[in-house]
Amino acid sequence: MISLNSIIFNGMDATPIDVQVQLSTGLAKPEFNIIGLADRAVKESAERIRNVLSAMNLSLPPKRLTVNLSPADVEKTGSHFDLPILCGILCAIGVLPEQELSKYIIIGEVGLNGAIVKTDGVLPASVWANQHNLGIICPGAQGPEARWAGHTNILAPYHVLELINHFKGTQILPVPATTAFDTNDASQIDMSDVRGQSAAKRALEIAAAGGHAMLMIGPPGAGKTMLASRLSTILPEMTPAEILETSIIYSIAGQLDGKSLITKRPFRSVHHTSSAVSLAGGGADARPGEISLAHNGVLFLDELPEFNRATLEILRQPIEAGKIMIARARRTATYPARFQLIAAMNPCPCGHLGNAALSCSRAPRCAEAYQNKISGPLLDRIDLHVDVDAVNPWEMNKVDTSPAETSAQIRERVVAARNRQIKRQGMPNAYLDGGALDTVASLDATLTEFLNDAAEKMGMSARGYNRIRRIARTIADLRGTTNIEMPDLAEALSYRPINRGKYGAR
Ligand SMILES: Nc1ncnc2c1ncn2[C@@H]1O[C@H](COP(=O)(O)OP(=O)(O)O)[C@@H](O)[C@H]1O
Ligand SMILES: [Mg+2]
Repeated sequence: MISLNSIIFNGMDATPIDVQVQLSTGLAKPEFNIIGLADRAVKESAERIRNVLSAMNLSLPPKRLTVNLSPADVEKTGSHFDLPILCGILCAIGVLPEQELSKYIIIGEVGLNGAIVKTDGVLPASVWANQHNLGIICPGAQGPEARWAGHTNILAPYHVLELINHFKGTQILPVPATTAFDTNDASQIDMSDVRGQSAAKRALEIAAAGGHAMLMIGPPGAGKTMLASRLSTILPEMTPAEILETSIIYSIAGQLDGKSLITKRPFRSVHHTSSAVSLAGGGADARPGEISLAHNGVLFLDELPEFNRATLEILRQPIEAGKIMIARARRTATYPARFQLIAAMNPCPCGHLGNAALSCSRAPRCAEAYQNKISGPLLDRIDLHVDVDAVNPWEMNKVDTSPAETSAQIRERVVAARNRQIKRQGMPNAYLDGGALDTVASLDATLTEFLNDAAEKMGMSARGYNRIRRIARTIADLRGTTNIEMPDLAEALSYRPINRGKYGAR
């Protein structure tokens, strides 16, 4: 019996799959079966393989050919078992050497003519193979992707014949080249594009420094979307570990373009008509959703109240846990989902609440209904609430005497503040809670009294209380000081929850 290695992912968890091929005698005509809880794609694989064999003029011997994917209790989905099954058969009929091929993890879909086509999950498969001292055989186009895992024992053929020739020794496959990452920022957006809005920019800087979730509220055209989309230009660079982690999610989702790993923090802008599955992940093959594609980056929800309320509620658990569990028929899959949530909204459906000249006759009742579409518990999990007022047209067109700060200048301060946090507690301030928060964001007697007083007057929840301390901690980190002082706390208190701020309907 032939035995080769392949792999399958459930969420981020890898399970090695043993692809066994057995030829048994006693039949007049060839028969071919795949067993071991195979889904439709795997069954279709039999058909494709039969075609490839006849295209290569290789006919199956008149024997019973049984392919078993083991362990049997693991659900096998996808088409990437084509290649290991085909290799197993080629070993069984003596075309490929089993002894050599069993030293590799094999994944890839095979086209009808024998071309090896792209498949999902090559990056994590290569990481796994590297850790387990195995080589990897993957589709030619994905050689660089396999290489990014730090692996060098890679065979990346574009066609089955290349693989056969390689093992015959007639044409050795080269180790895939590492491609240079595309570090050019094509977007060309910068914080200096935004005129005025110094308060909103300051809030965005705090959000970037501490990794805080942020909600902007204000009239249409104030520049909320413009500000949000510039957050990624002031965030700290990704660490190598973050780059690999996020890229693995994209690889599993089939969204790695083959040119580069994900080296810039993702910025995922999700439309309010998006379904729960596209946001959270799921579907028949348990794909990662937007919140996982935003892992280590930004999830932007524009026009927040327009989202389906049930869809938004899904966010509560991942915001706290930094991951999402997707339940499926037979099992559950878990994906990382540590994203920075940035949301924006108008104060009311027409957007002009508080503007005597423009607001409609239904204000402020329509605003109350509108703002109530977002649940209290979700609002509670957003650290920074910011009012964004429209910039006056005359202000906007004024000749600038002092040019606005660039993203690079702001990022420098953000990085310094973030480094303080990592050095002190190993994580951004946004994740501080409970005892850790007490330790690093302690307040002296005067400040404690001040905050308690404010909390009572504002009817603050325990969550709200911690929210203020986290923000004050980040503000102090931006100043580069160890202790939180009165101006830090006072500024933190100015980011009042939107439903109690200037545009609040309550
Ligand atoms: N502060 C600003 N500086 C420069 N342009 C602005 C500013 N505010 C708004 N704009 C212009 O108005 C357009 C609409 O802004 P947008 O960010 O979509 O507003 P909002 O999301 O608050 O409705 C922007 O594309 C930009 O051209
Ligand atoms: Mg907008």
